[in-house]
Amino acid sequence: MNASTQDVITKARVAPSYYLGESPLKDHPFDNVNTCPMYIIPNFGTLDWDKPSPEAVAKHMGRLKDAQGALNEEIMMYVHVPFCTSYCHYCNFARDRFPWRDHSVLDSYTDYLIREIDYYMDEVPYVHTRRFTSLYIGGGSPSTLGAANVDRLLSHLAKKVPDWDSIEKTFTGEPKTLKETGLLDVLVQHGMNRITFGIESLNPTHRKYIGRTDKVEDIESVFDGLAQAGFKGDTCADFMFNHPGQTFEEMAADLEQVVREFQPTELDTYNTIYVPYRPLHKLVIKGKVPQPANIRGLLQMREHLYDTLLANGYHNTIAETYSKRPERSQYQTAHCARQDIIGIGVGARGNMKDMVSINPATTDDWMKAIDESRYSTRTLQTIKRDGVLKRIMVMWPRYMTLDKSLFESFSDVESFPAMSRILESHLDKQVCDETVSEYRMNKLGVLWHPNMQWDYMHPDLNIWGKVIGRHFGEGKRHWDDAERFQRTRTVRFIDRFTDKYPKLMK
Ligand SMILES: C[S@@+](CC[C@H](N)C(=O)[O-])C[C@H]1O[C@@H](n2cnc3c(N)ncnc32)[C@H](O)[C@@H]1O
Ligand code: SF4
Repeated sequence: MNASTQDVITKARVAPSYYLGESPLKDHPFDNVNTCPMYIIPNFGTLDWDKPSPEAVAKHMGRLKDAQGALNEEIMMYVHVPFCTSYCHYCNFARDRFPWRDHSVLDSYTDYLIREIDYYMDEVPYVHTRRFTSLYIGGGSPSTLGAANVDRLLSHLAKKVPDWDSIEKTFTGEPKTLKETGLLDVLVQHGMNRITFGIESLNPTHRKYIGRTDKVEDIESVFDGLAQAGFKGDTCADFMFNHPGQTFEEMAADLEQVVREFQPTELDTYNTIYVPYRPLHKLVIKGKVPQPANIRGLLQMREHLYDTLLANGYHNTIAETYSKRPERSQYQTAHCARQDIIGIGVGARGNMKDMVSINPATTDDWMKAIDESRYSTRTLQTIKRDGVLKRIMVMWPRYMTLDKSLFESFSDVESFPAMSRILESHLDKQVCDETVSEYRMNKLGVLWHPNMQWDYMHPDLNIWGKVIGRHFGEGKRHWDDAERFQRTRTVRFIDRFTDKYPKLMK
C-alpha cells in the first residue's frame, strides 16, 4: 500500500455540478434513465444471430485471404478464458464453472486456444497485412488457468504476435487466483503491461451482497505481489457502485478508500446492473438483500465519481474509465472505434473488414467447432457499411469523440439521416458539444452516456432487445421510488425466455 498525505482525496469540483450541491438540476435531458451502460454492446439484441450456413461462414472466411475491403489499418487480438472459481451474483459474462475435479480441462482449454490462435496467425493472410496494436486476455478469469498454462499460452503468443515487445498486453484475473506469486512472475517475465481485476467494493457487507467470495486481503496481495515481482505496468481495477442497500456516503467512502489505499492506474466504474435473469436481481426481489438506491441516488453517485476522480488526477478516457494516463488504452480504442479484432476462445467477439462474429457460448461447442474447422466462429457475417455506421454511433458516446469527417464519410448509407437526427437531438439536449472537427462528449453526457448509446441503438433493436431495454430504462415517475425492483410483467417475460438473451462481454 502506498498512501501518502498528498494522495488523500480532495473535494474540489472540476465542472458544474448537476445532481449534487445546493440546487441540483431540475430539468433532466432525458425522461428515462437507462441504467445499463452499453459496454455489452454492439451485438446485444440488434442482430439476428441465427447461424449462417457453414458454407456461408467458410465463404466469409475466404474474404480474409486478401487485404481488399479493409476499414482500417489496425488489428488486436482478444482471448477469452471463461473459468471463474465462483460466480458473482451480478455477473452475466461468458463464464464456465472452474473444473475443480479435473484440472486437465484447463490444459485442454489452453491447447485449444493455441490451435485457434494458430489458425488466424498462420492461415488468414488478411491478419498479416494489419498493424498489431494490442492483446487482451479477458474473461471470466484467465488467472484460473494457473501459472504453467499461462506461461505456455504467453510463450506461444510471443512467437506468433508481431511487435510483441512493444504492444499493449493486458491480462485479467480474479484477485484470489491472480495473487499467486508464480503467476504474477510469469506475467511480468512475459512483459504483460496491463493487469486488470475486480475490486468492486471494499465494504464487507456490499461484497457479500454481490457475491464476491475473494477477500479484501486478496486484493492487497495482488498489489503487493505485483510490486514484488517488479511489475512496472498499469493496474486497472473494476469498481462497482449502487450495490444493494448502499448509501451515497458509503459509496463515497468506498471510492475514497480504493483511491487512497491502492492508487490504481485505471478505474473502470460500473453502476451495478441488475440483470433480471441473474441471481442478484432475484435476491433483491425476494427481499434477501436490500433494494439499491433510487434513480436520483444513482445520478448523484455517477456525478460524485466523475468529480472525485478528476479532482484526484484521473482523466476520463472513455465514458466509464478514469485513468492516470491521459490517453485511452489500445484495447479501449479498438473496442470503441470498431477496429479489427481477432476473437479467440469461448464467446469471444470478432470484427474483421465489415464482418462481425461471436464464438460459440459453451466450452464444449467451442472445442467441437475447432475440431471440425480449426476456427470456432459459426456466425461470421457481413453487416455492410450501414451496419458499421450504426455500430460507430452506438459506441461513440462511450469513446467520447466522433470525428466529423469519419461520420460524413458514411453520408451515402441508409441509416445516415436517422443517425444524424439522433446526434442533432443530443446536441440540443446539451449532452455533447460540437467543435470544428468533431463531436465531443461533455460531463452531462458522461453521466447519461447509457441513454445516448441506447438512442442510437433503439431503431435497430429486435424484440429481445426491446424487452430488456424496457427493463433497464426507468421513467421519471419512478425516480424517487424507494423500491427500485419489483416483479413486473417485463421481468416475468424475461425470466421465461432467459436463453434468448446473450451473454455480456467486456
Ligand atoms: C471479467 S470481470 C473482471 C475480472 C475478474 N473476473 C473479476 O471479477 O475480478 C468483469 C467486470 O465487469 C463488471 N461487471 C460484470 N457484470 C456486471 C454487472 N451486472 N453490473 C456491473 N458491473 C458488472 C465487474 O466490474 C466485473 O469485475
Ligand atoms: S465478475 Fe469476474 S469473477 Fe465474478 S463471475 Fe464475473 S467474470 Fe467471474
